[in-house]
Amino acid sequence: MDEKIYEQSMLKENSFAGRTIVVTGGGTGLGKAMSKYFSELGANVVITSRKIEKLEKTAEEISGATGNEVLPVQCDVSDYSQVENMLNAAVEKYGKVDSLVNNAAGNFISPTERLSNRAFDIIVNIVLKGTYNCTLAFGKNWIEKKQHASVVNIITTYAWTGSGYVVPSAVSKAGVLALTRSLAVEWAKYGIRTNAIAPGPFPTKGAWERLLPGDLAEKFDFKKKVPLRRVGEHQELANLAAYLVSDYSAYINGEVITIDGGEWLQGAGQFNLLEMIPKDMWDTIERTLRKK
Ligand code: HXC
Ligand code: NAP
Repeated sequence: MDEKIYEQSMLKENSFAGRTIVVTGGGTGLGKAMSKYFSELGANVVITSRKIEKLEKTAEEISGATGNEVLPVQCDVSDYSQVENMLNAAVEKYGKVDSLVNNAAGNFISPTERLSNRAFDIIVNIVLKGTYNCTLAFGKNWIEKKQHASVVNIITTYAWTGSGYVVPSAVSKAGVLALTRSLAVEWAKYGIRTNAIAPGPFPTKGAWERLLPGDLAEKFDFKKKVPLRRVGEHQELANLAAYLVSDYSAYINGEVITIDGGEWLQGAGQFNLLEMIPKDMWDTIERTLRKK
């Protein structure tokens, strides 16, 4: 494999010319990386979240680098009327929206019994309610206008395994996975494709501050949990998202693509812990086994 080819752009130049893509949570982290790449490929990108100053700064930074306009729109995705306003702002500016990337999220680690009901609500309202709010508002608009479109939902691998200590996030991401698969079937007749990406560990300030506070980042080194022994690079996630948003993936619908270097399977396979056994010990083990 060429040295770190995954850090390079994958789609052809101008693949998104004339397209408009909305990225929720597009001001930071993975949302910002995807937005930058969509903009590089020629898209009109709308980035949206609660903090307008951060969005404006990111929009300026991306436009400065790509030469294409990025529209920052303030919107709390947990509030349906704000989502409708955000959609209207995008349509007013660009005439239509072609794709929606539901990336906004909230999360922090905690034993579940320490959470108040409000703490539980706050995560579910961002992740699950925020995703269905955006999907519903955009979907109604596309169906009414008889417009083909694509949705990409950013989930996690614990959407199907579940995970302790991030339970509000896990139940929400599981709901988003169900939404992805349900609408992939129901809305295919309108030319709307719905897919998801399940990233493994991709270092971002937002996630690392809340999931690996203090010295947890050293103690709980994600690299060791990944068979490929590295964390993800933002561009490789952006490449995958661009592919799913684009018509190159026109026959992919209802799929969730995991991009985690094999992390969740390493945790799942019952005998994968045998990885810890040194090579020369296998001779002894084999001799013992053959005797039986
Ligand atoms: C227990 C806590 C708590 C904690 C907050 N609460 N922190 N309870 N343990 N550590 C409680 C509060 O007491 C309050 O409940 C309720 O949660 C809401 O608290 P607020 O102060 O209103 O919210 P705040 O803590 O300021 O913000 C929470 C948040 C914030 C909204 C989720 O962190 C945020 O804006 N996050 C957005 C970005 C983000 O989270 N990114 C990470 C995505 S990473 P009471 O009852 O006291 O009112 C991701 C990756 C997954 O999803 C996979 C990685 C490998
Ligand atoms: P991040 O930078 O913290 O991104 C979260 C974004 O969501 C922020 O830009 C935040 O902006 C926005 N947001 C939060 N609440 C919102 C609300 N109510 N309305 C609108 N926007 C809101 O973290 P990240 O790591 O890039 O995460 C991006 C996505 O990847 C998330 O879906 C996360 O679950 C997923 N993911 C990440 C990893 C990883 O390793 N990083 C792994 C698996 C999955 P404001 O604060 O301005 O609102």
